[in-house]
Amino acid sequence: MALLDIRDLDLRIARGRELLPVVQGVSLAVEENETLGIVGESGCGKSLTALAIMGLLEGSVVRIAGGSVHFRGRDLLALSPDERRRVMGDQMAMIFQEPMTSLNPVYRVGDQIREAILQHRRMSRKQARDRALDLLELVRIPDPLRRIDSFPHQMSGGQRQRVMIAMALACDPKLLIADEPTTALDVTVQKEVLELMRSLQARNGMSIVLISHDLGVVSEICDKVAVMYRGKIVEQASTSTLFSNMSHPYTLGLLGSIPSTDHDVEWLDAIPGRVPTLDEAVPGCAFHPRCFAANESCRSADPSASAVSPAHIVRCHFPQGSSS
Ligand SMILES: Nc1ncnc2c1ncn2[C@@H]1O[C@H](COP(=O)(O)OP(=O)(O)O)[C@@H](O)[C@H]1O
Ligand SMILES: [Mg+2]
Repeated sequence: MALLDIRDLDLRIARGRELLPVVQGVSLAVEENETLGIVGESGCGKSLTALAIMGLLEGSVVRIAGGSVHFRGRDLLALSPDERRRVMGDQMAMIFQEPMTSLNPVYRVGDQIREAILQHRRMSRKQARDRALDLLELVRIPDPLRRIDSFPHQMSGGQRQRVMIAMALACDPKLLIADEPTTALDVTVQKEVLELMRSLQARNGMSIVLISHDLGVVSEICDKVAVMYRGKIVEQASTSTLFSNMSHPYTLGLLGSIPSTDHDVEWLDAIPGRVPTLDEAVPGCAFHPRCFAANESCRSADPSASAVSPAHIVRCHFPQGSSS
């Protein structure tokens, strides 16, 4: 049984009297100790999918219109928010793109980590502070004894993101969802934070869902990858299969944005156009207006997901690669 098993998740956004589909038929599974990457341009539904898993859509404009999210065998969507917090509260944690918006600027980082620990564990404040120190050390903040009393604005972006990771680890989660955790960081720091996540996973044995718009970032640490376009998964495979037999033109386009010296296909340098907004109706395949391989059938019929090989799923009328 997978640790996390999402089936046919459908999310809609209330706009006036309409409910606009924003995530459609998303199915994903994450095993214990596995890292799943979700990749796609901005606006494709990655964050909303993550928020649905975490139960953070309650009371928002987003409705869960269908599907199931099983975590360790229990359907989270069938639990009330209270039940959910009781049952799952300390087993999942999430970190966000911009740590400045999640850290409280008026409290010292050590106090914020300590509070996160005390939310989940019964211990004295002194014990919690010691644990906060351990966590700062674990996420490789230099000089933790001094840094524990810093305010967020006194730290660099990379250090703040490490503090966020420390807070997320406060409860020893089984599943960590990281939503663009390195996007705000420069490339060197980004690599360090990814390397940190990888080593924490090896040490703690947790599963990770890593969300990014950057296929390169995802390929660094993920065992498998789901590519999302406009609310749907358009390609899904193990990282090695995906990179050896990339099939969806959108995935190929995303790959084109990875810096590389041997581009021989020119259009890959950028995917033309942009992701359609929610209220723009696109008949057929939602990617067809931007796709180099599109023809009449793509304009008229939305392709269904099919397996190009075992465990390699593609939603495209004309998958690229060895078979075509
Ligand atoms: N609170 C909201 N109100 C209206 N539209 C929203 C809201 N949140 C997200 N959206 C829309 O839902 C779509 C998916 O958003 P999101 O999941 O944040 O995408 P991603 O994380 O892939 O960039 C986007 O078109 C976005 O504009
Ligand atoms: Mg997002």
